[in-house]
Amino acid sequence: MNYKIRAIEKDEYPLLDEFLYNAIFIPDGAAQPPKSIINAPELQVYVEHFGERKGDNALVAEVGGKVVGACWTRIMNDYGHIDDDTPSLAISLYKDFRGIGIGTALLRETIKLMSSKGYRRISLSVQKANFAVRMYERSGFRIIEEKREEYIMARDL
Ligand SMILES: CC(C)(COP(=O)(O)OP(=O)(O)OC[C@H]1O[C@@H](n2cnc3c(N)ncnc32)[C@H](O)[C@@H]1OP(=O)(O)O)[C@@H](O)C(=O)NCCC(=O)NCCS
Repeated sequence: MNYKIRAIEKDEYPLLDEFLYNAIFIPDGAAQPPKSIINAPELQVYVEHFGERKGDNALVAEVGGKVVGACWTRIMNDYGHIDDDTPSLAISLYKDFRGIGIGTALLRETIKLMSSKGYRRISLSVQKANFAVRMYERSGFRIIEEKREEYIMARDL
């Protein structure tokens, strides 16, 4: 499948709500949460007033003219926050576009982008049961803290 990774356009910021919803890890057999879950304060931190703060950066993956995934960063008090100089990231793709390398490519380009902007590292939090842990490790992230159900990971840039 041909895809293109590019910077998000301002008028596409509302799409981040979709990708925030898609970024929620749903263990095998668990029910899909309602869409309204993204209105919870601990999830709104990822998207509210996106684009207005230093550290807000987003790349999208496009297939056939449609945005199918996004990886975005923000210095925010989210699960993956490690300090006020380190943006944390969120990443997701629509279901039909997973498992074909787009996530890895989005991550690679995000690392390049944040490095070019002078950030020293980026971080994230991921559920231990999510296969994405391996993807992050392959992309140079290391576990810096282990919680009950998740890892906090960081990558030096
Ligand atoms: C996590 C996510 C962004 C990864 O992107 P992706 O394009 O599906 O991943 P890739 O195709 O680049 O695959 C990355 C690695 O995971 C492996 N993988 C892909 N899908 C897998 C699956 N369902 N189960 C196990 N491993 C899988 C791939 O084989 C690849 O491994 P490799 O590097 O050893 O070859 C995407 O699957 C997604 O949107 N998931 C739901 C949201 C989510 O979990 N976001 C992260 C929250 S921290």
